[in-house]
Amino acid sequence: MTQNWPRHDMSFLAGHRLRRTRRTEWSRDMVRETQLLPRDLIWPLFVIEGQNERTQIKTMPGVERRSIDLMVEAAKAARDAGIPALAIFPNTPDHLRAEDGAEAYNPDNLMCRTLAAIKDAVPEIGLIADVALDEYSSDGQDGLVRDGEILNDETVEAMVRSALVQARAGADIIAPSDMMDGRVAAIRAALDDAGFEQIQIMSYAAKYASCFYGPFREAVGSGSRLKGDKRTYQMDYANSDEAMREIEQDIAEGADSIMVKPGLPYLDIVRRARDAFNVPIYAYQVSGEYAMIELAGAAGAINRDAAVLESLWAFKRAGANGILTYYALEMARKLG
Ligand code: PBG
Repeated sequence: MTQNWPRHDMSFLAGHRLRRTRRTEWSRDMVRETQLLPRDLIWPLFVIEGQNERTQIKTMPGVERRSIDLMVEAAKAARDAGIPALAIFPNTPDHLRAEDGAEAYNPDNLMCRTLAAIKDAVPEIGLIADVALDEYSSDGQDGLVRDGEILNDETVEAMVRSALVQARAGADIIAPSDMMDGRVAAIRAALDDAGFEQIQIMSYAAKYASCFYGPFREAVGSGSRLKGDKRTYQMDYANSDEAMREIEQDIAEGADSIMVKPGLPYLDIVRRARDAFNVPIYAYQVSGEYAMIELAGAAGAINRDAAVLESLWAFKRAGANGILTYYALEMARKLG
C-alpha cells in the first residue's frame, strides 16, 4: 500500500509542513507559546473551627476543610511550593449564620482569625479574602434579602464592613465575589479612608450564575440553605458582551485585577477580556470542574493527571495571568 504514496504532488507543502516543529520533544519545547508555572497557581482553601481538625467534602474527593492550625501548615507548604497566594473561604458554624449575615463583619470571625494566623506565621504568602454574604447568611444568598429580593446598596454596605475587618486582620487582596453593583468603588473608598491604600481589589467581575459551584456550596455549608438561584445578580451564561461591560466597570471603579468564573466553560470570556483590557486576569477553575475531572478520572473515562495538566494549560493559552485551582499545591510541586 504505502509504497505507492504520495499519490498527489505534495510539493506545494514545501514551506508549510507544520508537523516539522512537532517532531521532537526539544522542538516542541522550543516553540511552546505559553508556560505553566507554580506562580500561576492560586490555592483556594476552606477553613473550619477546631484544632487539628480536617473534614472531607463529599463532592470534592481529595479536598478538605481545615482548622486554623492546619491552614497555617497548608500555607507553609504552599509557600515552599512557590504558590504566590491563597484564597480563603470560611465554613461558618450554623449558630453564627443569620439573615443579616452580620458575622461577615465580626472582626473575630473565623475568616479574620485565619487571615491573622497565616499572616503571622507565613508573611511571605499573599492572602486573598473572599467578600460575599453567602458564607455567613442563613439563606445562602450572597446579598441581603427582603421579600425575596436581593438588595444591592444595603448589601454593598455589609460588604464594605466585611472588607474592612478582613483588611485589619491581614488580607492582602480583597476579592468581592457577590456581583452587587458598585461594590468595588465602595470598598476601594473605604479601604483608602482607613489607610489601606496598598490593599488590592481582585474583583470577581465576570461571575456567571453557574451549576458548577455546587460542590463549593457543600464545602462552605451554604448549599442546603440556598433557596432559588443567584440569577438576579450573577450573570446569564448566554452573554459575553455584558461580561465586558462588567469588567470595564470594575476597572473604572478601581479593581487591580479581575476574575472570570467558572473557568473552562468560559475561556472565551478570558480571551475576550485579555484582548480588550490591560489588567491582570484570573480564572477560577471552580469546584464543579474539579469534581468532573476527579470523578471522570476515578471512573476510568479519562486520564486524571493528564486532564489536570491540560485543563490548567488551557487557561494560560486563553490569556489568564493566573488560575485559582484546587490542584494548586499538587501541581506547583510537580511543576516546580
Ligand atoms: C461565594 C462564592 C462561590 C464560589 C466562590 N465564591 C459560590 C457561589 O457564588 O455560589 C464558587 C467557587 C467554586 O465553586 O469553587 N460568593
